[in-house]
Amino acid sequence: MSATRVRVGLLGCGNVGGALAEVLLADRERIARRTGTDLELRAVAVRDIARPRPAALPADLLTLDAGAVVSDPGVDLVVEVMGGIEPARSLVLAALGAGKPVVTANKELLASCGAELWGAAARAGRDLLFEAAVAGGVPLIRPLRESLAGERIRRVLGIVNGTTNYILSGMAESGATYAEALAEAQQLGLAEADPTADVEGFDAAAKAAIIANVAFGAGVVAGEVDREGIASIGPDDITAARRLGFAIKLLAVVEEIDGAIAARVHPAMVPLTHPLASVRGSFNAVFVEGATVGDLMFLGRGAGGAPSASAVLGDLLDAAHNLSVGGSGRTPALAALPRRPIEDLVGAYYLTLDVVDRPGVLHAVSGVLGAHSVSVRSMEQEGADEGARLVFVTHPACERDVQACLRELHGLDAVRRIGGLIRVVDQ
Ligand SMILES: NC(=O)c1ccc[n+]([C@@H]2O[C@H](COP(=O)([O-])OP(=O)(O)OC[C@H]3O[C@@H](n4cnc5c(N)ncnc54)[C@H](OP(=O)(O)O)[C@@H]3O)[C@@H](O)[C@H]2O)c1
Repeated sequence: MSATRVRVGLLGCGNVGGALAEVLLADRERIARRTGTDLELRAVAVRDIARPRPAALPADLLTLDAGAVVSDPGVDLVVEVMGGIEPARSLVLAALGAGKPVVTANKELLASCGAELWGAAARAGRDLLFEAAVAGGVPLIRPLRESLAGERIRRVLGIVNGTTNYILSGMAESGATYAEALAEAQQLGLAEADPTADVEGFDAAAKAAIIANVAFGAGVVAGEVDREGIASIGPDDITAARRLGFAIKLLAVVEEIDGAIAARVHPAMVPLTHPLASVRGSFNAVFVEGATVGDLMFLGRGAGGAPSASAVLGDLLDAAHNLSVGGSGRTPALAALPRRPIEDLVGAYYLTLDVVDRPGVLHAVSGVLGAHSVSVRSMEQEGADEGARLVFVTHPACERDVQACLRELHGLDAVRRIGGLIRVVDQ
């Protein structure tokens, strides 16, 4: 039986687009044989024709006119791997409006305009697929949308940013400072020259918003995700964490509590016995807790052109098949679920205080904690420059009370510095 030909318009030919073009050009026959879909790369839009491209890419496929690729009657399906909001948003809407399915890897776009774009896809009866937008090459979105479509998901915990995981695991393994581990990641090309989007948690927050929409149908946008980065984590925190039985990870956490959705990104103390604690280097992993299925973990390469292109290719074949039979898969059904503010969260906390080393200080600090109903599960005291460092792990406490404690502790003259306040993941 001959394969069904589907003509692909590619918007963007950088890390992801270039890797996808290479696979489509090199593996076309194998893919057609295996899947029954013959993917023909028809046109490729870029910003600068002169930039180097994959050697096998015929120069006459390149164009500066992305709009013309979308409206070309010879293009059946559009892949958007340009990045950014505009013109990507308008191009995706134009493609869907013209009845062409779209595959995108653009987390920023989906995390801010997902509802509009999925609505357009549903109206057009066409796919808008986005496996590569969260955790790159790791299959996560399809399992959430399909295998777990009816599952009551309780919580998703994700290491969804490889750069920060590389930095934090480097600090844990070599004793490097944050600045040293960041510089190494930059040298290896794992962190941008301006690392803000990664280290301040913006990238992970966009992915948390997408997870909230796919796993919970929550209608969350990136700006609503509570966000804290890793720049304040020091080698002392990493050492203390390990001694206490934890690894520090930047987590995207999305959970449903009493019908309300909490979505946040912050460094977290992950028990060493939890599968996420052993995820090293630039790997991504997403841990899903379902009421019926129990615990699941998805692990793999969360970034990089080739792993992400693999996820785009899977989507492309799915969308091409659906197009050839005249339909589409499911689009996320979003409802504006109530939000649970971070102040209402209840959990354990790791807290370090640098204090003056004199009698009565511990009593004063304990008094403040007790006055705000924050009880201590463990406390260590160690010498710190001409003073003492107190390291606490609390019993579960309300974030609002913990923050009130911190404000009051700031006011104690015996407290020189409040160091890390890191949320502890329960298991
Ligand atoms: N890189 C990863 O590991 C990864 C992983 C998962 C998801 N993603 C997502 O995938 C998307 C692409 O990432 P990337 O790393 O491949 O980006 P990239 O290397 O910067 O490539 C972007 C491509 O889009 C083209 N482009 C940008 N604006 C354009 C415009 N207005 N008209 C025509 N072409 C335009 C660029 O053209 P020129 O080449 O001429 O400049 C370039 O080829 C982003 O949304 C990103 O978040 C990336």
